[in-house]
Amino acid sequence: MSALSPSLPGGTWTLGDLTVGRFGYGAMQLAGPGVMGPPADHDGAVAVLREAVDLGVTHIDTSDAYGPRVTNRLIREALSPYPESLHVVTKVGARRDEQGGWPVARRPEELRRQVEENLESLGVEVLDLVYLRVGDATGPVDGPVAEAFGALADLREEGLVRHLGVSNATAAQVAEAQAVAPVVSVQNMYNLAHRGDDALVDRLAGEGVAYVPFFPLGGFSPLQSSALSAVAARLDAAPLSVALAWLLHRSPNILLIPGTSSVAHLRENAAGAGLKLSGEDLAELDTIGRK
Ligand SMILES: NC(=O)c1ccc[n+]([C@@H]2O[C@H](COP(=O)([O-])OP(=O)(O)OC[C@H]3O[C@@H](n4cnc5c(N)ncnc54)[C@H](OP(=O)(O)O)[C@@H]3O)[C@@H](O)[C@H]2O)c1
Repeated sequence: MSALSPSLPGGTWTLGDLTVGRFGYGAMQLAGPGVMGPPADHDGAVAVLREAVDLGVTHIDTSDAYGPRVTNRLIREALSPYPESLHVVTKVGARRDEQGGWPVARRPEELRRQVEENLESLGVEVLDLVYLRVGDATGPVDGPVAEAFGALADLREEGLVRHLGVSNATAAQVAEAQAVAPVVSVQNMYNLAHRGDDALVDRLAGEGVAYVPFFPLGGFSPLQSSALSAVAARLDAAPLSVALAWLLHRSPNILLIPGTSSVAHLRENAAGAGLKLSGEDLAELDTIGRK
């Protein structure tokens, strides 16, 4: 398996003391429909994970809530013993119910149990980075986070976790968490068409904190817009490649974790994110999320 590869687009970023490539991979799509149960193609899912690492991916995003326990176990099966350069990051703060819902689970004892479950399912002694998932399936929801984030900070002090992040959170909740313990990364919904976090992206860049957009390709309904199609046609590129390249251009603290269950799409995304965008391209794309 490859060490940190300079060939993937975007170069590197440092999460606390962990160096990762800015082109990473999000594992959520490897679970079954509705992020519940096993994938239809188990061997295909394993192949996607191995291909990601072979391409030089060093940042894989997961959660024990995916499946639940499906993607973590796939990651372990495909990649353990893990290469030293690979950092698998996970999230706690929600569990799954039988209907596929994501009920909140942020009491200190629930967070401890989820951290322990992630350690077990990934087969590691320390988790490199754990996000506290705030909000709910509809997005960020106002409310205090200090107690829950403090509980994770205690687990970090115990040595179960190296670094902490916050996900699906408002800017105020990010600041509240930062007052409790260092936050190395924020993971929120953001893409070419959803720019609600523009100010937060810039603030975090100034503080040296990573911003990891989830749904970088639009999630369950892939990004479509006439401006995106026009730029993609001009560059003879796929629209989703342009969307990834735009994110890498947007700010140096943005790390990509596009999801896919397909080796072909993974390769296409890894190549496409490296597209060079001109000032004219960027100006045209900039109109999409600001309309
Ligand atoms: N913190 C949170 O609350 C939260 C919420 C959601 C997601 N996440 C994380 O963010 C990661 C990324 O989000 P996501 O996977 O939901 O959405 P995404 O990356 O925006 O989009 C994934 C979708 O795009 C398709 N796709 C990918 N590459 C493609 C290509 N080259 N051509 C055509 N279609 C392509 C995939 O289908 P195929 O499988 O067919 O390629 C899949 O349906 C997740 O994997 C997860 O780790 C976090």
